[in-house]
Amino acid sequence: MSHIVTFEGKPPEGMINFGVGQPSADLLPIDLVQKATEDFLQAAQPLDLNYGVLQGDQRFRDSLATFLTKNYGQPVDADSLFVTGGNSQALDLICSHMSSPGDTIIVEEPCYFLAFQIFADHGLNIVSVPIDHDGLDIDALEETLARTKPALLYTIPSYQNPSGQTMSATRRKRLVELSQEHDFLIMADEVYQLLSYYDSPPDALGTLSESGTVLSLGSFSKILAPALRLGWIQTSNERVNRLTKIGAINSGGSLNHFTSHIVRHAIDLGLQQTHLERLRRTYRGRVEAMDAALKEHFSDHATWTRPDGGYFFWLKLNKDTSARELRHKAEEMEVSFQAGEFFSGSSRMKNYIRLSFAYYNEEDIRAGISRLKPLFV
Ligand SMILES: Cc1ncc(COP(=O)(O)O)c(C=O)c1O
Repeated sequence: MSHIVTFEGKPPEGMINFGVGQPSADLLPIDLVQKATEDFLQAAQPLDLNYGVLQGDQRFRDSLATFLTKNYGQPVDADSLFVTGGNSQALDLICSHMSSPGDTIIVEEPCYFLAFQIFADHGLNIVSVPIDHDGLDIDALEETLARTKPALLYTIPSYQNPSGQTMSATRRKRLVELSQEHDFLIMADEVYQLLSYYDSPPDALGTLSESGTVLSLGSFSKILAPALRLGWIQTSNERVNRLTKIGAINSGGSLNHFTSHIVRHAIDLGLQQTHLERLRRTYRGRVEAMDAALKEHFSDHATWTRPDGGYFFWLKLNKDTSARELRHKAEEMEVSFQAGEFFSGSSRMKNYIRLSFAYYNEEDIRAGISRLKPLFV
């Protein structure tokens, strides 16, 4: 996967790069972090600067549980939460401690491309199962399970990266049943669960975590700021207990303890909720701007479904064109995107394009999409 160029900073001046799946600068709230930090420091006790308890600070988990209960619309128990340094780290931790090299992991096709590298780091054998408009294709999964014994399954149930699709409630339930019947763990990457712009998605898989086979991964990267490196795993008490036995946690205490104090204050002051609501309004405007611009310029060249949340449009080109080659041409016109093949476990999906609407305002979105138009004449 060394050919993938990931985003390391700002795109070059003048370039509109829809490949960037990150929030725009105007949505990274310095003032919020400042207020929450000041509020914390005013009340801080010296022991707040000591190691944190292994599972994560109780006060933070209480605040997080209250926040999730409100926004999931389902009760979330603070004891079911284990604090992490974000979903990338959580994926790495789970692979390290709940699988062995040579084990099989089932992933969605298409799948978040940077997860492939994490799974490869752990010597996991990747098997893909397709998704459709209702998320992971459960019939295809059952066929795969008839011949494969996975240790893990990785899914992004809501507003999937890259497809924008959401797994139906029925499939979520069936998936959990299958994990129990076939004895594998589900890593549900719920990083976009709260970024809904229309109706709410089905219940988070985290709310089914008492089943014992679900590890739901949540993060503040998409709802507050990626730099915080703060997230959580919601799972059964038994698995939480297993996570607290990890050597590095035993030695270093809770992951990212200091930041969890600041985010606790952001939640308790209501700042996190207000920010989430602002993100939903802003991203909804961007979704609609991108959808309208695509309809204007692309209707004859591609098909797509308008996402109801998350960050991404996933376009299927009508012709069997290589999106990767198109990207070279696009970059000459100072516009870019991610080519579909990077999201495939088997280098398929060459005629798909992923466009993120998170990094640009509505005006830039319209300008960028219209720059793509000459690619198809
Ligand atoms: C599906 C998915 N998982 C995980 C991440 C990274 O999450 P974190 O910043 O919490 O490590 C991203 C970021 O783009 C993502 O899209």
